[in-house]
Formats: sequence, structure tokens, C-alpha cells
Amino acid sequence: MGRLQLTTAGESHGPALVAVLAGLPHGLQVTQEAIDRDLARRQAGFGRGGRMALEQDRVEVLAGLRGGRTLGAPLALAVRNRDFDRWRDVMDPFAQPTAEAKALTRPRPGHVDLAGALKLGLTDARDVLERSSARSTAARVAAGSVAKALLADCGVELMAHVTRIGEVVAPAVQQDFVAARERAEASEVRCADPGASAAMHEAIAAAQRDGDSLGGVVEVIAWNVPPGLGSHAEWSERLDGRLAQAVMSIQAIKGVEVGLGFAASQQRGSQVHDAIVHDGRRFRRPTNRAGGIEGGLTNGEPVVVRAAMKPIPTLARPLPSVDFETKQPFDAQKERTDACAVPAAAVVAEAAVALALADALLDKTGGDTMDEVRAHLRAFEEQLAAR
Ligand SMILES: Cc1cc2nc3c(=O)[nH]c(=O)nc-3n(C[C@H](O)[C@H](O)[C@H](O)COP(=O)(O)O)c2cc1C
Repeated sequence: MGRLQLTTAGESHGPALVAVLAGLPHGLQVTQEAIDRDLARRQAGFGRGGRMALEQDRVEVLAGLRGGRTLGAPLALAVRNRDFDRWRDVMDPFAQPTAEAKALTRPRPGHVDLAGALKLGLTDARDVLERSSARSTAARVAAGSVAKALLADCGVELMAHVTRIGEVVAPAVQQDFVAARERAEASEVRCADPGASAAMHEAIAAAQRDGDSLGGVVEVIAWNVPPGLGSHAEWSERLDGRLAQAVMSIQAIKGVEVGLGFAASQQRGSQVHDAIVHDGRRFRRPTNRAGGIEGGLTNGEPVVVRAAMKPIPTLARPLPSVDFETKQPFDAQKERTDACAVPAAAVVAEAAVALALADALLDKTGGDTMDEVRAHLRAFEEQLAAR
């Protein structure tokens, strides 16, 4: 990240998840309702396990906000884990855990357990899995909600939806994003197409019945994005690279594409690149195969980022594993788990994209206050209109 710096802390069953977001301008309006709404969106979706029904996340603001406006100082957000009360004997920050309490000694294939235990020399993976669990995405979603507020103030809107669950694929969303967003928000699998939603629901239910899990693909679209965000000049500043890092770092995401992505490699240049026209007001592209980014910069078209999520590793019918200590074969350990978290991952991806875009927007506008950010953006837009 550039000017915006996000640090998160917190264990899955510890006291709370925490996000510290530094670099925000003074005077950005932030509401508890908006952050809680995004936290609730992350918890929803058919295929989640019992944990989500228990938690009902709410944000607590610990620093950086006064009267609903940012102070131009680091913003500290916390989301309490209600489950902590029931896990005190395992997760108390000071008291020794009771012997063998919730030890994870038979590592789950596909999860952090084995790699983390090898890294830290553990025979109980609890210390690594607590932190690496996707429960930590609640902190990123809370911070992402603030980034969305900044983007909305500057006219930028986002939607996040599911385009694939296992073998079920939804038709592409190419226009009328507001209506598509409404349909996705109303779908229990966060899919904008009602027919595909029903088929996705059925596919998840079938995996659940078999004690198995399913992955899928999520897509985030941001529109009204000003051109020129990111950088053509340095690899680490290129916006597609920044978006890929932000989204790839979400647990279980194994592929990220911008625009056509991998499909661009199979077609000729004339079928891949977007013609340039001028409509009397601004430069436009009749198609958006580039996904709104060329040369590391936004080009004024909607930014389209897709991510592939692998199936959840914890299985009700576990794969073979071995015991850390005895090295004897055992089935991998069970933890309470989701069967499919692709709808939730869409909300996390939206937060990751919002943070990367807000960061790039602030790089472009500068400004200590929201008034300055808005004025600098207006001046840039006037300059574009005068071309
Ligand atoms: C929103 C969300 C929820 C998840 N829920 C679970 C879960 O309930 N059980 C599980 O085993 N993995 C779950 N995962 C995936 C694991 O956290 C992830 O596979 C694991 O941390 C290993 O990281 P890696 O897949 O990126 O290598 C979830 C991921 C996301 C994004």
C-alpha cells in the first residue's frame, strides 16, 4: 500500500480482531451502520458453518474518529469474538491453556497446520491456525468499509458477486451494475443471476451432504473510477499488481485476474484490446476486456477483478493425515467449518479492492482533509473535461 497503511491483529477465538488504518484524511464521514452492514454481509451466504450464526459482528471504534468524522489520525477498529468466552481455557492471553485443550495435532491438508507447525517447531498447530484463520478477514472488511466510504465520497461505487460455484457458472455482468448489485445482495449465494443462484445453492447442499466442500470465483467491479490511478513508472506501484497482492492474500484465493485475465492469452490482439473512441465529452471504450487497467493505470472504464477460491480445506469427511508426534496415519482433525465460503470471500475481495483503490486515489489527489481531496479531484476532472 502507499499512503494508506493497514495493520490487522487478532486470533480466531481470541478476545477480538483489530484493524489499524493509517493515512486517512481528516473529515471523512464514517457510520457504524455502514461498517456493521459490511460485517454482516461477510457473515452471510449459504454454506457457512455454525460459527457465523453465533458471532453477529459489530464494530467498536477505539481511536481516530470523533462525531462520525475521521481525525486525520490512525483509525483503530475492533470486532469482538463472542466465542472467546467459551474458549477462555484455550485462548486466555495470560492464563496457561488447560492441558491438551483444543490442541490440533493431526494437520489438515490444504490448511496452515503442517507448514506453520514446521515453521515454528510446534506439535500443536493451534498457535498458527488461530491467526491464519479467515476469521481475520472481519478486520479487513471493517477497514475496507471505511475505504468504501472514501471512494463513495469521490463518486466511486463497487459491487461484489459470485460468478462460479464448483461447476455452476453465472452469466457475465457487463452493464447496469446497480441493478446487478441489488440482485447479488438479495441472493443467498451473492449471485446476480437467479437461475444460477438456485443451481449454486443445490451444488453447495450436495457437497454438504457428502461431507465435502466447494470453491468458486468471485468478481469485484468498481465504476466511476477516475483515470490515471496507479503508476506506469514503477513495478511496485502498478495498480494491477497492487490489486493482485491485495486479493491474492485473502485466505484460499489461488488465482487473480484483471479483465479477460488468463483468457487473453488464448486470443489474438484484435480480439483482446479495446478500441478507443471519443464521444464528444470523453475518451471511451466500447468494450472493457482490459478490466479498466492499462499500463498499471486506471483508464476510466470500470475496474474488474476476479479471484478463484479453492474449496475449504477442513472437511467433515477428512483426508488422510499423520499425527505430529507419533507419525502414525490418522484422518485429519475436524474443526467447526464452512462447506462453502465463496459468497463471503466476495465481500472480503470487495474490501481488498476498495482499500487498494482508495490508496491509489489518495496517491493521486494528496490532501490532508476530505475538502482538499475533493477539490484536487474536481480540478483533475476539469482538466480532463477541457482536453
Ligand atoms: C471468508 C472465508 C471463510 C473461510 N472459512 C473456512 C472454514 O470455515 N474452514 C476452513 O478450513 N477454511 C476456511 N477458509 C479457508 C482457509 O482460511 C484457508 O484455506 C487457509 O487459511 C489456508 O490458506 P490458503 O488456502 O490461502 O493456503 C475460509 C476462507 C475465507 C476467505
